[in-house]
Parts: sequence; structure tokens; C-alpha cells
Amino acid sequence: MKKLVKNNVYWIGKMDWELVSFHGADYSINHGSSQNAYLITEEKTVLIDTVWKPHSVEFVNNLESEVDLNKIDFIIMNHGEVDHSGSLPTLMGKIPNTPIYCTANAVKSLTGQYHHPEWNYKVVKTGDSVDIGNGKKLVFVEMRMLHWPDSMATFMTKDNILFSNDAFGQHYAVEELFNDKADTCLLWAEALKYYANILNPFSQLVKKKIDEITALNLSIDIIAPSHGAIWRDNPLEIIEKYYEWSQNYQQDQITIAYDTMWEGTMQIAHKIGEEISRLSPNTKVKIFNISKTDKNDIMTEIFKSKAIAVGSPTVGQSLLSSVGGWLDFLKELKFKNKKAAVFGCYGWSGESTKVLRERLNDAGFEVVGPEIKCNWNMIEEDYQKVTEVANALCE
Ligand code: FEO
Repeated sequence: MKKLVKNNVYWIGKMDWELVSFHGADYSINHGSSQNAYLITEEKTVLIDTVWKPHSVEFVNNLESEVDLNKIDFIIMNHGEVDHSGSLPTLMGKIPNTPIYCTANAVKSLTGQYHHPEWNYKVVKTGDSVDIGNGKKLVFVEMRMLHWPDSMATFMTKDNILFSNDAFGQHYAVEELFNDKADTCLLWAEALKYYANILNPFSQLVKKKIDEITALNLSIDIIAPSHGAIWRDNPLEIIEKYYEWSQNYQQDQITIAYDTMWEGTMQIAHKIGEEISRLSPNTKVKIFNISKTDKNDIMTEIFKSKAIAVGSPTVGQSLLSSVGGWLDFLKELKFKNKKAAVFGCYGWSGESTKVLRERLNDAGFEVVGPEIKCNWNMIEEDYQKVTEVANALCE
């Protein structure tokens, strides 16, 4: 079933209430998600994007029930990742000569995945446009590295709809489609989680791209992303938020993340939290056990933080493996302008704080001098170090 977006523009995607993870298991889905595809029926009939491969038969059947597939004049692939292109082979099996408008890099990603170099690709770049009749055009804007080199957005004139693909999306299912129908708290929490866990590494490009889009002076009435709610009520708000988030965003918050074997390192984590609260009562403090907490939720809190503390006991002259893997993900997200402190218990050799220091430096954090390296369980001297660490993080 298609759903009306505006005039002759329809949503024809997959409302994916059953999805529980994304990017393999790298992104948790807690409130469903959607893969948004759009059907435009002006003088030309145009499909923008498809849906993930497991839903390809359902998608093509649904599309076929709404429109004669042979009447689709062309397809726009804003991005080649499989959640948007996965139904293309099934669809192209039925209409093999249909032109596919996409970037040069999308030809590479689509050909690499589906092995159909003979598909009728029409390569476009920023500023190119195509007439769809009734005085309307689709204008293409390359969105390189937001978040793949092949990404682009498509702007529909007159109706003033920006089909932004992944940018401005959320992994959040809104059956009624629009942001004004969504639960506002969840919507913004999911938009922030999406930015922190997917787009943050490209923040400098986000700012540049928003400057570029602003300079185009487009009158945007609707932002229709490829995941989650469509922004029709105050659509520019999400652009303003992205602009703010892209500039080393932080609140007065300190996040403490740790794992523990016999609760010694956990005890230090809680003492640091208490001390920060005592020294700086207005600072928000959040404490998470890395092996018991969704890593995307912790990263979202780190995104909001001005400083973090990370703890692990020494195991095998290094870290608990939960913390080691977590630090890999932390590095990928390329957080900037944040302080970090390290802590951990040990019984014998005591390398964990040194390893944590190296790994956090490598992840782009400014690691403060004081640390808590606690032999067995805390003694008076360690409590003094807690104050030094809390002070260094609050400064
Ligand atoms: Fe929603 Fe980059 O795919």
C-alpha cells in the first residue's frame, strides 16, 4: 500500500516493525525502523530508492499493485547500500531497461553488489536535473560521505521535497509517516542516536554540506529521508540540529563506562561519579557497564559528553575483551574535543590503565594526567586519586 506524502508523491517503502539490529549487529533497533522508498506520479513516473533484500518480493508486488511497472520512466538510486538497493535485482528482472539515475560511485557500489554492469545507468552530479513534467524537476545534490561516497539527495521543485536518503533519518518506525505524528521524545532521541552512531565521523562534511545546501536557497517544505519519520512540521529544525551536532557538540555531561571482573573497577566507577557530582552539582553524570549496556546508547551519551572516564581491570596484561572491542567502536566514531580519564583494578601486573590511555589517545581523546590504578580494592590513597580525576574531568 502506498501512502500519500504530498500531491503526486507517495511513500512506498517497508515499515519494518520486526527489525532488531542494523549494520549486522552494530546498531540496535528498539522501536522498529523503516526503509523509505518513494513513488512520484507526475507526467513521468519515478521511483526513488527501494528496500532491503529480504523484503524485495513484497516490495515489488506492492509496487506492481500501485503502478504498471512498465510505466516507471526511471529509478533514482540515492545510495547503493543494500537497505535501499536490495530490491533492485528483483525489480530490474521485470523492467531491465529502465534508466537508473545515480552518482558515478553508486554505479560502482551497485555493480559490485549485483553484478549487472549492463543496467541502464545515468550518472548524475550536483546541479544536474531531470524534468518530470507538470513544470516540476528533480535536482540532484551529491552527498559524498554522508555517509558513503556514493550518497546523494534529490530535490523536487514546486513540491519542495528534499529526498535526503540516510541524512536526517532515524531508525524509528512511524506508521503514520510524519514527524508531527511521532512521539516527539522518541523521534529526537532516535535522530540523535542515528547521528552519534552513524554520521558523527563525517561531522566536518555535514557542516560543509549544510552550508552548500543553504547557499542553494532551496525552499524546503518536506525532508523525506530513507529511514524513519518524514519531516513536514518545521522541517528545517532537523537541519539546524545537524548543524549544531556537527560542531563538536557537547553538554555539561560526563559519562563513565567500565567493565569489571569482581566489582573492584565498578566501585571506582561509582566513586568517580559521586565525586564529579559533589564537585560540580550541575554536571550530568551517567555510568554504564560496557558489557551490560547497549553500545549505541553509551556512544550516544558520549556524543553528548564533554568528558568521559573509561575503566577496565587488568586481564592478561591488557583489558577485558568487552572493553577492548568497545574501544574499537569508540575510535570509529571519531569524537573530538573531549577529555578522558582512565581507571582500573589489578592484582598482579597492572597494565590496564596504560593500555586504556594509549587506546583513548589513539581514539582522539585528550587523556588527563591523573588516573586510578588500584591494587586489589580501594584504599585511602585511591580515594584521593578519585578526587584528582574528577577535578581534571570537571575543569
Ligand atoms: Fe540506510 Fe547507508 O543506508
